[in-house]
Amino acid sequence: MPITPKKAADKPQPAAQAEEVFVPEEPKWTLDEIILPAEVKAQILDVATYAENSHRVFELWGFKHTHKFSRRIGINLYGAPGTGKTMAAHAIAHELGRKILIVNYADIESKYVGETPKNIRKAFEAAKASDSILFFDEADAILSKRVTNMTQAVDVSVNQTRSVMLMLMNEFQDFIIFATNFIENFDPAFMRRISVHVKFTLPDEDCRKKLWRMYTPTECPNNLDFDELAKKFDGISGSDISNAMLNAAFKAARLNAAELDKSLVFEAVENILASKRANLGTREY
Ligand SMILES: Nc1ncnc2c1ncn2[C@@H]1O[C@H](COP(=O)(O)OP(=O)(O)OP(=O)(O)O)[C@@H](O)[C@H]1O
Ligand SMILES: [Mg+2]
Repeated sequence: MPITPKKAADKPQPAAQAEEVFVPEEPKWTLDEIILPAEVKAQILDVATYAENSHRVFELWGFKHTHKFSRRIGINLYGAPGTGKTMAAHAIAHELGRKILIVNYADIESKYVGETPKNIRKAFEAAKASDSILFFDEADAILSKRVTNMTQAVDVSVNQTRSVMLMLMNEFQDFIIFATNFIENFDPAFMRRISVHVKFTLPDEDCRKKLWRMYTPTECPNNLDFDELAKKFDGISGSDISNAMLNAAFKAARLNAAELDKSLVFEAVENILASKRANLGTREY
């Protein structure tokens, strides 16, 4: 029974609504589409291979009977924003030939004490029923250890959510993928239950060059020099590169330019860098 609503005027949501949120989907990305340093890609491939072998060992060879609680594996993709963590979760599911069930905190959060853990449980059940890969995106919101400025009721709710999550993770005998920008906020109890951590960093010059090339359609007339771009702008993510190219293309179209001039791309990157500096302050990844 929901208790302690924050606003009396708000009505409880019908139970069916939460279930509809957890619909497994076909992975949107493949490993080939992600530009990553070789060692990060290898780590992701390792995970995918482990999963394949795990199916053989546990299902086909029957180790599920003798090693009942040994095959849960938590994978945590962590690091800077816009570096391909969400893409990688999709790619892992794709490698495994399975659907992905994405859980964002917004999907499970409820202002009613006791409802959030229920929603988490539904997410686990939906993943199990559909044999899809469970993926908690922006997982720090659920796995966080810090509780600040909260009322007692909310505090109880956060702790409840955390312990239900731990319990469900213990029971769940399958892969769970997490992604976060804030690994430092993770509760140590969750850290112990995650067996593989893959760190995503901002792309190096070589990766940036590939990203610039990848996000410049061959049909688009331009005078870009990918070597120059990769050298000139450090400290930007794959997402920044993708956004900068699109912004520059729209500006070129607006100016009715015959081709995409590199000055427009420089300008677009500068704009992104300026807003990132303002937004992130001195945070380091
Ligand atoms: N390594 C990459 N290779 C190719 N494209 C990338 C890469 N990283 C980011 N992108 C581009 O940026 C978009 C955002 O990437 P993604 O959502 O995977 O980042 P993220 O690490 O999950 O970010 P956040 O921490 O903000 O959730 C992608 O859809 C893609 O267009
Ligand atoms: Mg993401």
